[in-house]
Amino acid sequence: MNFDRSLKIAPSILSADFAAMGAECEAIEAQGADWVHVDVMDGHFVPNLTFGPAMCAALRPHIHTVMDVHLMIAPVDPFIDAFAKAGADIISVHPEAGPHTHRTLQTIRGLGKKAGLALNPGTPLDVIEYLLDLTDLVCIMTVNPGFGGQKFIHSQIEKVRRLKRMIGDRPIHIEIDGGVTPETAPLVVDAGANVLVAGSAVFGGGSVGQPEVYGRNIRAIREACLAAV
Ligand code: DX5
Ligand code: ZN
Repeated sequence: MNFDRSLKIAPSILSADFAAMGAECEAIEAQGADWVHVDVMDGHFVPNLTFGPAMCAALRPHIHTVMDVHLMIAPVDPFIDAFAKAGADIISVHPEAGPHTHRTLQTIRGLGKKAGLALNPGTPLDVIEYLLDLTDLVCIMTVNPGFGGQKFIHSQIEKVRRLKRMIGDRPIHIEIDGGVTPETAPLVVDAGANVLVAGSAVFGGGSVGQPEVYGRNIRAIREACLAAV
């Protein structure tokens, strides 16, 4: 498992072909994805539905890197155990998804998983001040969660910069989720992010039959960032 702090590209399978999900995960890994980002939506916390722990368990044998599970469900606590058993490596929750986020993070770590906190564009950083010592990753949402292909919200760049200062020397990943493209990626990397989730910018134009497009798309994001730093 590669959890070091080097730049990671984590394609979101929300933009993949749902009828070929196992093959899609293998294709993006073969084309240079560092992690695989799995978006779980409940039609209640966010206005869209995807899939649950059974899908994650089915995909696990097809993911050889890190399975990065982003839970957009509320209440979240009753499902943590199921996603841990399904093989998630990182489980990220939104602080609005339960009354005791501190306990939720303890539960995730207690199950031997990395604990992530995901913050909506409108959620301030103060919420996580007393949670950072239990956190392995903070995901700054640069769109309102629910759908792929939305426009990057630029106000979040300053939030990333502030988060970086807040984290200090703690070993916490800063992940960006939403609207990441070769144009927006360098802005957030410059502000301190090291994990870039990208759905439409990775899967756009490609397919399981044409996986080299995924490789080109991943390289375009990575190279835009390396050129910027
Ligand atoms: C949005 C999801 C994202 C999304 C990103 O709710 O959490 O992971 O799939 O998609 P793009 O990269 O297309 O904005
Ligand atoms: Zn996500």
